Amino acid sequence: MSEQTPSAPEQKKIILSGIQPTGIFTLGNYLGAVKNWGQMQQDYQCYYFIADLHSLTVHIEASKRRAQTLQAFTQLLACGLDPEKSLIFVQSHVRTHAEAGWILACCSQFGELSRMTQFKDKSSKHPDNINAGLFTYPSLMAGDILLYQADYVPVGADQTQHLEFTRDIATRFNHTYGETFKLPEGYFPKAGARVMSLQEPTSKMSKSDTNPNATISILDEPGVIVKKFKRAVTDSETEVAFREGKDGINNLMTIYSAITGKTFEAITSEFAGHGYGDFKAAVGECVAEELRPVREKFDELSKDRPYLESLMKQGAEQAERISLRTLSKMRKRVGLYLPK
Ligand code: TRP
Repeated sequence: MSEQTPSAPEQKKIILSGIQPTGIFTLGNYLGAVKNWGQMQQDYQCYYFIADLHSLTVHIEASKRRAQTLQAFTQLLACGLDPEKSLIFVQSHVRTHAEAGWILACCSQFGELSRMTQFKDKSSKHPDNINAGLFTYPSLMAGDILLYQADYVPVGADQTQHLEFTRDIATRFNHTYGETFKLPEGYFPKAGARVMSLQEPTSKMSKSDTNPNATISILDEPGVIVKKFKRAVTDSETEVAFREGKDGINNLMTIYSAITGKTFEAITSEFAGHGYGDFKAAVGECVAEELRPVREKFDELSKDRPYLESLMKQGAEQAERISLRTLSKMRKRVGLYLPK
């Protein structure tokens, strides 16, 4: 497991994560995940990819999926991931993923896959499309992670069960066939903010929310961002303080703190005697400033598709090289015949 990858000469620990190409990222995706991914690039060898094979478990038009994949890749770069430092690629461009996913599906039990909360949720929400991919989704995800011998996997709460599953499968495989995989651990950055809907602050901010005022897109214009924060739902009190029952204010404080680095106490004293109007304006402005360079970079990158595609190609080649080492081991271990 001490093999060196060409881009990790000093043996940094490996971080790996994926994100599905399902549209423009929200402020929640940004503050909760992608911004932190950028900050990890110094200290870790990072592998980040667009999980387009996972996205196939939900049916959308082919042209839409294609557009969203390019868009997601562009967004990762716009949010600060640097292809010089990190390996950034599209999952389906690297054939080892599907193959590893199949081998691991054959080590996954019907019972354990049936107990996955995401499978139960998604199949009850889409009873008309309970496809086999939705069921074996965790096996494919286990392959994504294990192929790269990842040390840490930053995931949200909704994916921790899949990470546990990955460790179970890896342990079982190592036990049955001999030591092959490193056991990955979850990575939970201190700064990872859980951003809630601006209109219904008890539920998570979601790309698919039908109320446009509930969600901030990372590509929203500054004026739009400020306006949405002005309309954010709060409560009937006046004090900017983080307390139970003040879900709207708690959410705004979380966002403000994630961007400015200020503690909740500091924010409370900053806005003592000001009321919510000033606070909402300040949060709106700081978010608008934070996202301005992201939007500008996105617009600039979007004009240069050949550049984006050349990065995709480079990323895929390198990812294939790295993941093939593990895949070859897997093939050998399970007894796939290898002609001389
Ligand atoms: N399932 C993850 C999600 O929807 C995306 C994903 C796919 C992933 N493969 C992964 C995340 C491997 C971390 C590691 O959020």
